[in-house]
Amino acid sequence: MQNSSLNKDPKNIQSMFASIADSYDKANKVMTFGLDKKWRKQVVKYSKAQKQDKILDCATGTGDLAFCFENTIGANTTGIDFCQEMINIAKQKAVKQNSNTEFKTADMTQLPFKDNQFNVCSVAYGIRNTNNIKLALKEMARVTKPDGYLVILETGVSSTFIIKQSLSFYTKHIMPLLGGFISGKKTAYQYLNQSSQNFPGGKNFVKLLKDTGHFKNIEFKSLCLGASFLYRAQIK
Ligand SMILES: C[S@@+](CC[C@H](N)C(=O)[O-])C[C@H]1O[C@@H](n2cnc3c(N)ncnc32)[C@H](O)[C@@H]1O
Repeated sequence: MQNSSLNKDPKNIQSMFASIADSYDKANKVMTFGLDKKWRKQVVKYSKAQKQDKILDCATGTGDLAFCFENTIGANTTGIDFCQEMINIAKQKAVKQNSNTEFKTADMTQLPFKDNQFNVCSVAYGIRNTNNIKLALKEMARVTKPDGYLVILETGVSSTFIIKQSLSFYTKHIMPLLGGFISGKKTAYQYLNQSSQNFPGGKNFVKLLKDTGHFKNIEFKSLCLGASFLYRAQIK
C-alpha cells in the first residue's frame, strides 16, 4: 500500500540524499553490518557482465556498485545519480582509488545516452526512490542493448513471519536511530524505512517488470532472508 506521507518529489529526494551524502558510506556499513559489500559482489555476479562489457550503474550514489563492476571484472563502467553531492563523493573516491569509472550527474528517468549503448544496466537501492518507476525502467531498457541485462537490487519484505517481524523492527526502530546518530538526519532514515515497506518487492516487482513490455527472462532471488531482492531481466 502506498503511504501518502512519502514525498518522492525529485527535489525532495535530491535534497534528502544531499543532506546525508557525507556520512552515507559510514552509515551503510554500520547498518548492514558490512554486508553491503557482499551484496554488491552478488549483483555483479548475477548480472552476467563480462570484462569487455560497458556497464551503466544508475542511482549510483557514492559509486560503490560501479567500482565493484570495475574492480571485480575490469568492465568499462559509468555511474549516474541526480544528487550532485553524492556524485561529488563518488568522483573524489574515483580519484583516490585511481579508478577509470566515469561519474555523471543525471536523472534515471531521462538518461543522457543514445539507445543501445550498454551491455548491462544496474541499480541498487535506487529504483524505489523514483516517483516514476516505469519511465526509469523504459529509459534503462532504451540505453541497454537488446539481449543485454538489467539488474536491480532492492529492499524486500520477507515472507517468513518471524523474519518479517524482526526485519521490520530493525528497519523501523534501529536503522533510523543508527542512521540518525551517524548522519544527524534521522528523518532521512525514517523515509528510507517507509519507502522500503511500501515497495512492491518479489513477485509483485517481477509483474511490474513484465507489464512494461521491455523485458524477457525475468528472474529474481532473495538475499539475506528476504531483506533484499536481486532481480535480473533481459532486454527485448
Ligand atoms: C539509497 S541510495 C543508493 C546508492 C547506491 N546505489 C548504493 O547502493 O549505495 C539511492 C540513490 O538514488 C538516487 N536517485 C533517486 N532517484 C533518482 C533518479 N531519478 N535519478 C538518478 N538518481 C536517483 C539518490 O540520489 C541516491 O543517491
